[in-house]
Amino acid sequence: MTAPRVARTRDELASLRATLAGRVAVVMTMGALHEGHAVLIREARTVADAVIVTIFLNPLQFAPGEDLDHYPKTFDADLVICAREGADAVFAPGPAVVYPHGDPDVRVAAGLLGDRLEGAHRPGHFDGVLTVVAKLLLLTHPDLAFFGEKDGQQLELIRRMVRDLDFPVRVVGVPTVRDDDGLALSSRNTYLTPSDRSAALSLNQALTAGARAAGEGAAAALAAALAVLDAQPQLAVDYLALVDDESWEDADETTARARLLVAARVGTTRLIDNVPLVFATPGERRVTSAPERAEG
Ligand code: PAF
Repeated sequence: MTAPRVARTRDELASLRATLAGRVAVVMTMGALHEGHAVLIREARTVADAVIVTIFLNPLQFAPGEDLDHYPKTFDADLVICAREGADAVFAPGPAVVYPHGDPDVRVAAGLLGDRLEGAHRPGHFDGVLTVVAKLLLLTHPDLAFFGEKDGQQLELIRRMVRDLDFPVRVVGVPTVRDDDGLALSSRNTYLTPSDRSAALSLNQALTAGARAAGEGAAAALAAALAVLDAQPQLAVDYLALVDDESWEDADETTARARLLVAARVGTTRLIDNVPLVFATPGERRVTSAPERAEG
């Protein structure tokens, strides 16, 4: 297990980057690494010659009153995970390195999708995400960039930014990693009390119920998922949505691939989760869970 080299400044990153040969992948994180991040690094390792992990708690994507100040900071443990998974380099700048002129006036606009679903509950969030992702892509100039499917809308918006603004990078989505009880791994899970955590399991249970009912159509899938959420009084649901996986418009009978998404607050913690659904052949008019989620 070799410790990755750590760059704190732009100059240090540039020197370090110059030593990385072949196909370079980046895994962007805000720290507080868990097994989901480990899987991203592992996946990146399988296709790239070198992997850079960025650790930067991006203030631009947090609104006042959100959990920026309380976000878990576990840098030493993060480095252990990076080393264990074979990351070659870690870029861990502070805000003054990423935003040397203060909060940027000019930002990447996430567009209409950026205002829906998560964006409707977190105004400006995706502009902040895309702005830092764009900067980190320009600073690390990777061939590949790996992101988790758990942040499904974020992944879609990063794909659109890369496509629309011609970033020379291939974006790779990696399926959500779950605990044995189905809870999607998230740095925010550390906020959950035991009682919160058992209530939070309803998110995945709702998505699983939705996937199972999907053979009856989109409305049945949504109703089955909603019934599970409604039965859990500790959850305050922000949204439950079934969208076409390409257009991200509400799914209908013509949808081939869909995504069932949920966001809810449990105690003081806000959690999101999603699963892909695949329509079977049009003649069958059936919807089933996508192969990688078939076990629910
Ligand atoms: O998903 C995250 O951890 C963050 O949104 C990202 C992509 C690292 C940008 O700050």
